[in-house]
Amino acid sequence: MSELNKIALRIISDGKGILAADESNATMTKRLEAVNVKSNPENRLLFREILFSSEGMKDFIGGVILYDETINQISSKGKSIPDLISASGAVPGIKVDTGAKDLANSSQEKITEGLDGLRDRLKKYYDLGARFTKWRGVYSIGEKYPSKLAISSNAHALARYSALVQESGMVPIVEPEVLMDGNHSAEVCLNKTSEVIKKCFEELILHKVDLSGIILKPNMILSGSLSKDKISNEEVSTKTLECLKNSVPSEVPGIAFLSGGQSEIESTKNLNLINNNNNTNFIMTYSYGRALQQSALKVWSKNIKDIVSTQNTFNHRAKMCTLAAQGKWSIELEN
Ligand code: 13P
Repeated sequence: MSELNKIALRIISDGKGILAADESNATMTKRLEAVNVKSNPENRLLFREILFSSEGMKDFIGGVILYDETINQISSKGKSIPDLISASGAVPGIKVDTGAKDLANSSQEKITEGLDGLRDRLKKYYDLGARFTKWRGVYSIGEKYPSKLAISSNAHALARYSALVQESGMVPIVEPEVLMDGNHSAEVCLNKTSEVIKKCFEELILHKVDLSGIILKPNMILSGSLSKDKISNEEVSTKTLECLKNSVPSEVPGIAFLSGGQSEIESTKNLNLINNNNNTNFIMTYSYGRALQQSALKVWSKNIKDIVSTQNTFNHRAKMCTLAAQGKWSIELEN
């Protein structure tokens, strides 16, 4: 077993999942202002430190994705944030892309940037304690989208990123996110997501990336958020499995879904069904941002000194997601 494969399995085995707490300052400001909390480095750290020091980290969370600001911060107890995360048994990770920018010659689409100087930044993050990384490519569905240009250029960037990350001794999370915005059907989402993922693996293989040392972070197969043709949770699970079975090479150890705007309960229910119906050899778990933090953030915003209630809310959500990653969740457990 390679060292990278061991790290990947440590993050996603036994129902453990990933806490995606890598919102950029701009995104975190949106989240905090939506609940009337001032967005400054102190408050961003305060909320995140409450999550990272909660009981639920030990049993449910295998990895935490950080943003550059957070990985450089010091906790209220004087520890570095990666040390705080490692103390709970979870692996510290870091988002290393620098965001999605307009794609030249297809300005309605995005290309993710951040390759320049990446090798040196990776060294710095490794020294700070990171052992895995994230890069997110983003694709929208429209009549002409995602274009071949967007599919190919983002796959190329994801592959160059992955090769550099493995060279530096860390596990790359490969995240091609096909957005749920739009009125497309689930069938279209299935076809487009399959095309996007297949192209990613074509490039990863070309760039000699060790597929046993990556984690794939895809979207689930859903109908567009504006579509009138909603599919059942059961269908979400079967279409998602169909997509991954046909487009992901078997060496990949596991798949950690993003929540992508689904509610906490929807994303948990869908993950549970995916595991109930899992006819692949892949571990299927979560790498949720909003679907792990939303309720906790709401509780915290009412009183930012109320650590206990905030942690209880987070612990519950993490426990539900971990049960779903084992196919053992049911709606009754939510109460
Ligand atoms: P969501 O689960 O909120 O989609 O965030 C996951 C993530 O890391 C997106 O890049």
